[in-house]
Amino acid sequence: MKTLHWPVRMHIASVGVSKFCFLFSLAFCGLLLLLIPALQPQARQLDLPQPRPQVRPAPEDLLAPGGSEHSEETDSAGWGRPIQTKGITHEIHSPKRGTDSKKGVLPGGKGGRVSGSRPRDLLELKDIFIAVKTTRKYHKSRLELLIQTWVSRAKEQTYIFTDGEDKELRMRTGVNIINTNCSAAHTRQALCCKMSVEYDKFIESQKKWFCHVDDDNYVILPSLLQLLSTYHHSQDVYLGRPSLDHPIEAAERVKSDGSVSVKFWFATGGAGFCISRGLALKMSPWASLGNFISTAEKIRLPDDCTIGYIIEALLEVMLTHTHLFHSHLESLQKLPTDTVLEQVTLSFGGFENRRNVVSIVGGFSLSEDPTRFKTVHCLLYPDTHWCPKLQHHPRT
Ligand SMILES: *[C@@H]1O[C@H](CO)[C@@H](O)[C@H](O)[C@H]1NC(C)=O
Repeated sequence: MKTLHWPVRMHIASVGVSKFCFLFSLAFCGLLLLLIPALQPQARQLDLPQPRPQVRPAPEDLLAPGGSEHSEETDSAGWGRPIQTKGITHEIHSPKRGTDSKKGVLPGGKGGRVSGSRPRDLLELKDIFIAVKTTRKYHKSRLELLIQTWVSRAKEQTYIFTDGEDKELRMRTGVNIINTNCSAAHTRQALCCKMSVEYDKFIESQKKWFCHVDDDNYVILPSLLQLLSTYHHSQDVYLGRPSLDHPIEAAERVKSDGSVSVKFWFATGGAGFCISRGLALKMSPWASLGNFISTAEKIRLPDDCTIGYIIEALLEVMLTHTHLFHSHLESLQKLPTDTVLEQVTLSFGGFENRRNVVSIVGGFSLSEDPTRFKTVHCLLYPDTHWCPKLQHHPRT
């Protein structure tokens, strides 16, 4: 009997197994379908980079400590007129006395929402690429002073972009001097040619920040480091002083004939400006490998305006206005003496005005140090061998 029924039982059993398999796979598929929506967002979060919150700098963060805590000023007069750019108001002022008392008045103060969420960058001086633009005829009169002062404290990351060979200077001082092979003429084309080489060298350097200055700028390195540390190099950051109080309007040449009008802010090159690596990489189609020169030709404006055009008009990233950068176009005497060392860049002179210098008192007279750069340097780094030794007057 058993042997007779065996194949029948087999048949039933196999039907049962395949039925079970069918039902099981159906249930499994159903479970999978149910699980897909639940798994999806998790998987997506793992795959894609987290969006970085775009934070605007709070003005207070750029203020160096040292201001009086007991000021009577409670109005916002000290902050000046905020600059409106495409609906975003952001103004950074040079440090002033009594700003501490204003903290309660302004939104986004220290410890508030802005400071709390900012991705802070553990920045070191070696992360900053500093480009100094000069020309052969100023190697002696301007460059030597910079090399003697601030460049000596940032030799490794400072690059001097010039238009002539000077092996002697390179050998004697050990600074990075790059002969751009650009024309020495002070024309738009020659200036853009140098900026183009600066950009390419920065990209090559892998450093986190690009800062451009002129050969009449003193860079206060601790202030620069402090300022850039309030941002992250992967954010889109374009920092500088606008040379005008309104955006520039330029005719952008399009295709064959015609041109359209574009309005944008730009940081004046004479005061220096900085660009984060994240933003610099986005500029590449218009700035790298000679493209900068053709971009400048499109709007027929100088190098610093072209930078503004690429960033503000083409990439739609706003210039962060800062008043910590200074050019010779300003009246430098007006800078309060007690805030000079808190600025990021200083300058001297200007058209027909050699006496346009910051007012600061130190170990050098105006005739010994007409630019005031040595005086500033010795206040920042009193241990420098050529600085006058501090006079200790015995108490009487
Ligand atoms: C400038 O020309 C020299 C000699 O031809 C060359 O070695 C150097 O790389 C050039 N500089 C740049 C920045 O292209």
